[in-house]
Amino acid sequence: MAFKERVFSGMQPTGSLHLGNYLGAMLQWIKLQETHECIYCVVDLHAITQDVEVWGGPVELKKSIRQVTAAYIACGLDPKKSVLFNQSQVPEHAELAWVFNCVARLGWLNRMTQFKEKAGKNRENASVGLYAYPNLMAADILAYRATHVPVGEDQKQHLELARDIAQKFNNDFKPSIEQAGYADGIFFPQPEPVITGPATRVMSLRDGTKKMSKSDPSDLSRINLTDEADVVAKKIQKAKTDPEPLPSEADGLSGRPEAENLVGIYAALSNVSVEKVLSEFGGGQFSGFKKALAELAVEKVGPIGAEMNRLMGDVAEIDRILCDGAARAHAIAKPIMDEVKDVVGFVRS
Ligand code: TYM
Repeated sequence: MAFKERVFSGMQPTGSLHLGNYLGAMLQWIKLQETHECIYCVVDLHAITQDVEVWGGPVELKKSIRQVTAAYIACGLDPKKSVLFNQSQVPEHAELAWVFNCVARLGWLNRMTQFKEKAGKNRENASVGLYAYPNLMAADILAYRATHVPVGEDQKQHLELARDIAQKFNNDFKPSIEQAGYADGIFFPQPEPVITGPATRVMSLRDGTKKMSKSDPSDLSRINLTDEADVVAKKIQKAKTDPEPLPSEADGLSGRPEAENLVGIYAALSNVSVEKVLSEFGGGQFSGFKKALAELAVEKVGPIGAEMNRLMGDVAEIDRILCDGAARAHAIAKPIMDEVKDVVGFVRS
C-alpha cells in the first residue's frame, strides 16, 4: 500500500528550547508545514523517563509543556495548518508503545547510544521508561503512519529502530494483516528521517566536540530561545574559537570543530550555504565574524522569546490549542490503533 505522505515530530518539554532544537529540527518543521500534513507533538511522556529532578516535578512540567507549545507557535508553526498537541492527551501513544515493547528486542535497545549517554555509569538505576524510550518514539510516529520525520542528527539511531519495529510488526502479524485487507502485507510504512540543512548537529559554544544540549551545566554552552538580546550577544562573544583566521573553503573547517559550528550556525540562521558564508568571512578574524553572528542571532532569536512571553500571558488559549490539536490527533490515531488491536488479536467492542 502506498501511504499518504504525513510528517510527525516532537520535542521534549524539559527546560527551554535552544538553538540546536531550532536549527536542527524546527526550521525543517516550519518549511514542511507549507507542503505536507504535519503533526507536531510536545512529548511529555518522554520527559518523565528521566529523574524527577531533571524535569522538575508536576508544576514545572505543566509550565514546560505550555512553554514549548508557545515556542512552537512563536517560531512559526501555525496551529491551524499543523496539528499541535501534547502526547499524554492522546492515549494511542502509550497503547501502541506497549505493543511495540513486545515487538522490539532487548538486543536492539541495548545498542541505543542515547540510553547509554543518559543513563551514565549507574545503569541499574535508570528508569525502565528511559530504556524503552525508543519504542514509545516509534509508537509516536507509527500511530499516525507518518512517513517523514524531521529531526536533528542525534535522533537518527532512534529512527532506524522505528523502521525495524515497523518491519518486524509487519512480519510478525503478516497473515492477519493480509486478512485485514492489506494485500501486500504492509501495515506500517517505513518512516524516513529528514535530517537536512547546515546545522543538523549544533555543538556546544564552549566545546565544539560536545552537542549543544539542555542538560549541559553551563548556560554559556547554549543559546536558549528565551535569552534576552544582550545574553545572546554575550554568549556568542564568549564562544570558544581557535587562533587561526576563518578559511575560505569548507574543507578548511575540518579539524576545527568550533569554527565549523559557528559557521554552520550562521549559514542556518541566514538560510545560505556554508560556502557562501566562507566566501564572505573567509580570511578574516573571528572577532568580526562573531560580531556579525551575534547581530544575526539577536535578530532571529530575539523576536521568538518576546512572542513566547506574550503567548504565555494567555495560558487558557495555549491549553485550548493543545486540546484542539489532541482531538485532531486522536481522530487520526484511534482508527489505526483499532486496526492494530484487530491485527494483534485483541477483542474489542
Ligand atoms: P529532543 O527534545 O532532545 O530534541 C528535539 C529536536 O531537536 C533536535 N536537536 C538538535 N539538533 C541539532 N543540534 C542539536 N544540538 C540538537 N539538540 C536537539 C533533535 O534531534 C530533535 O529533532 N526523542 C526526541 C523527541 C521525540 C521524537 C518523537 C522526535 C519523541 N518522539 C518522534 C521525532 C519523532 C527528543 O528527545 O528530542
